[in-house]
Amino acid sequence: MSFIVAIDGPAGTGKGTITKLISNELGLINIDTGAMYRCVTLQALEQGITDIKEKNKIIQIAKSADIKMKKEGKEQQVYLNGKNVSKDIRSKEVSAFVSPVSSIPEVREIMVDLQRKMAQNIDVIMEGRDITTVVFPNANVKIYLDATTEERAKRRFKENQEKGIDMTYEEVLEAIKTRDYNDMNKPVGALKIADDAIVLDTTNLNIGQVVEEVKKIILEKKEEH
Ligand code: DC
Repeated sequence: MSFIVAIDGPAGTGKGTITKLISNELGLINIDTGAMYRCVTLQALEQGITDIKEKNKIIQIAKSADIKMKKEGKEQQVYLNGKNVSKDIRSKEVSAFVSPVSSIPEVREIMVDLQRKMAQNIDVIMEGRDITTVVFPNANVKIYLDATTEERAKRRFKENQEKGIDMTYEEVLEAIKTRDYNDMNKPVGALKIADDAIVLDTTNLNIGQVVEEVKKIILEKKEEH
């Protein structure tokens, strides 16, 4: 039986960085589910779809999209229909449209199914918004990462600068607030804290400290497994 570590939390809590580091250290396959919703969004935008009133076309895209995560060196690369889109899926345009796209119940159903299939027979660390509640409510480890809105915007702003994504701090803060609201108020798969999840407030912790804390929790559970 595979060992599943499920991590949820709002944007900018360091989920991506933390799961990447832990996956390398503990030999777990890292699955970034946000990247999957971003792929669907990117393809929609590329087809000129900018309004979720065109829901049926977006559902078709979700059904037919070939999404793959490949580890190249220490970095996880995201492929959409054979093309490396790791950078394109982080653009301002995708970030602004991904939340509405991910609130379409049929799109979620397709992605959740795919996420469960991806974790078959392998040990994974999967991060997103509904992993501890919907995708794997019986995961071996369930963690909810949190931090204040301002701290999360500060982190995302720095990350964007490093990746060459052009957004001001104010734009990032506004985008995070909007996304939080949308993520927490979706009809299906809304971001919430599972009753049995361990909540970790990372506001005053650096990445190394969070990694250590999360690793400790995983290793304790792994011993019981
Ligand atoms: O983690 P991220 O910022 O890359 O996620 C992008 C968007 O996808 C975010 O607005 C929430 C949504 N998402 C979701 O609804 N469910 C998930 N499991 C992961 C992400």
